[in-house]
Amino acid sequence: MTKDILILGIETSCDETAAALVKNGREVLSNVILSQIDIHEKYGGVVPEIASRNHIYDISGVVDEAINQANIKLDDIDAIAVTYGPGLVGALLVGLSYAKALSFAIDKPLIGVNHIEGHIFANFIEHKELEPPLISLVVSGGHTHLVYMENYDNFQILGATKDDAAGEAYDKVARVLGLGYPGGPKLEKLALEGTAALEFPRAMIHEDNLDFSFSGLKSAVINYLNKMNMTNQDINKADVAASFQQAVSDVIAAKAIAACKANGVTKLAFCGGVACNTFLRENLASASSENGIEFYVPSRILCTDNAAMIAARGHYSYLQGNTSGLALNAIASLKIGAKEVQI
Ligand code: KG4
Ligand code: ZN
Repeated sequence: MTKDILILGIETSCDETAAALVKNGREVLSNVILSQIDIHEKYGGVVPEIASRNHIYDISGVVDEAINQANIKLDDIDAIAVTYGPGLVGALLVGLSYAKALSFAIDKPLIGVNHIEGHIFANFIEHKELEPPLISLVVSGGHTHLVYMENYDNFQILGATKDDAAGEAYDKVARVLGLGYPGGPKLEKLALEGTAALEFPRAMIHEDNLDFSFSGLKSAVINYLNKMNMTNQDINKADVAASFQQAVSDVIAAKAIAACKANGVTKLAFCGGVACNTFLRENLASASSENGIEFYVPSRILCTDNAAMIAARGHYSYLQGNTSGLALNAIASLKIGAKEVQI
């Protein structure tokens, strides 16, 4: 019988302080997430310095809680996986410093994890039978990527946004509609009351590449609202929300299906915070089934930032012997698939 591998994951790249214990890369023993949303809400977005300070207050208690909930001892851990980028550098440094200190204290290896690769691995936790090769559509507040994964350690970026990430566009459009932060879930709720009656642009949808652009869509919504205001016309905010969401959905579905077809891949794995969105989940599921593609998406708690996905990604690095030294530094703009875990 092979020995179980237990990884402690730590995540502090943005405004969630999170720690989790994952067994054999797929079984979540604990998944503790302390969100700072309430703290940042009044500023209309994440304030980096405030995020870092709160991670400092919370990290120790969150890791202790993850260990207690998993009912394990520190010595049972095989390795500590920690997000070292991309993200807010001050926020990343809190989790990374904590992980380094713990790694040194308990003499267990440290594994630096790329946050975006972590999002992809949420699907492996949710779908125990899922294996590469696959195409992953990563849609979060900071990223919109189509990634071809040939195996667990190979990530090829097929396309990415040229400007705003889809989640960023959701948040900005929500702000101009007066919905507050974080905008994605609020805009989704409002869209349920409207119809996609307005024609907003679907940038790059017919271009022969797998890249995205959402800044033109965001500007088109702002221009529409300004024009309506200047001419004293009533605005149906729910229709604006539904029309915006339909435009996002059309583009990401078209590009994701094209990515699968171009690479002869029959599995599409959706992930990232925006993958919480029911409308997008349903549209991608039906576009996939119409094209003979198997569609995968994690449960919502694994879509937004969490440390279980970081531990899962770390597990596969551990199997390859890809551990990091204590000189590992935070890299705010770390690229997916980057191998330079040490600088
Ligand atoms: O992955 P995530 O938790 O953090 C990053 O790595 O960026 O994603 C956060 C993003 C935010 O832009 C948020 O508005 C968006 O995910 N989001 C949603 C929904 N829930 C979260 N966007 C659309 N609909 C949702 N239901
Ligand atoms: Zn994220």
